[in-house]
Amino acid sequence: MQVHVADHPLIDHKLTVLRDERTDSPTFRRLTEELVTLLAYEATRDVRVEPVDITTPVTTTTGVRLSTPRPLVVPILRAGLGMLEGMQRLLPTAEVGFLGMIRDESTLEASTYAERLPEDLAGRQCYVLDPMLATGGTLAAAIEFLVRRGADHITAVTLLAAPEGIERLEAELAAVDVPVLLVTAALDERLNDLGYIVPGLGDAGDRLYG
Ligand code: PRP
Repeated sequence: MQVHVADHPLIDHKLTVLRDERTDSPTFRRLTEELVTLLAYEATRDVRVEPVDITTPVTTTTGVRLSTPRPLVVPILRAGLGMLEGMQRLLPTAEVGFLGMIRDESTLEASTYAERLPEDLAGRQCYVLDPMLATGGTLAAAIEFLVRRGADHITAVTLLAAPEGIERLEAELAAVDVPVLLVTAALDERLNDLGYIVPGLGDAGDRLYG
């Protein structure tokens, strides 16, 4: 797995406001969208394109368009839904599939409660959206799910990642024979005893929708 930590003063600035406990839900949602649009630019660096011939008002030339099958964007409910619009701003023609996953707050184990994805993901590039990579259980299960369906290129986009989560992802995905890229706005210090990212931003789902 490749890890890319975004390094941009605007991302740091917006993330600082997002982390602040005084930031209200409407502002939190708007900043999440803005941050994801900035991250999407990095995350789509490897998006597949194919040549296309066009005619400009001056001459004919060759450009590119997104390859088929279209990329698939997968927000992990609930908090990942807050990232969808920001991603769609850069990839408006992508298909969208949904995965509902919940982390048990006492065992920290993730389980799937809803799934609305194409049956066959053969040859698809998938972009998984989840603001928090904490223990890594949720994202590991989501990525394994997509690979079982045939996805052949996965990019996970997060706002925050904990070192413990990255370590678990790397261990659990070691046997996965598909390129996986993680793009995150920040790599935080650690997890606390409750499995929260430190310094973090609290519970992203609650701050978006609570
Ligand atoms: C949070 C978060 C991630 C997951 C991260 O979701 O949005 O999906 O926990 O934790 P992990 O890396 O330890 O698995 P939560 O289960 O709270 O659900 P929600 O999005 O519905 O709030």
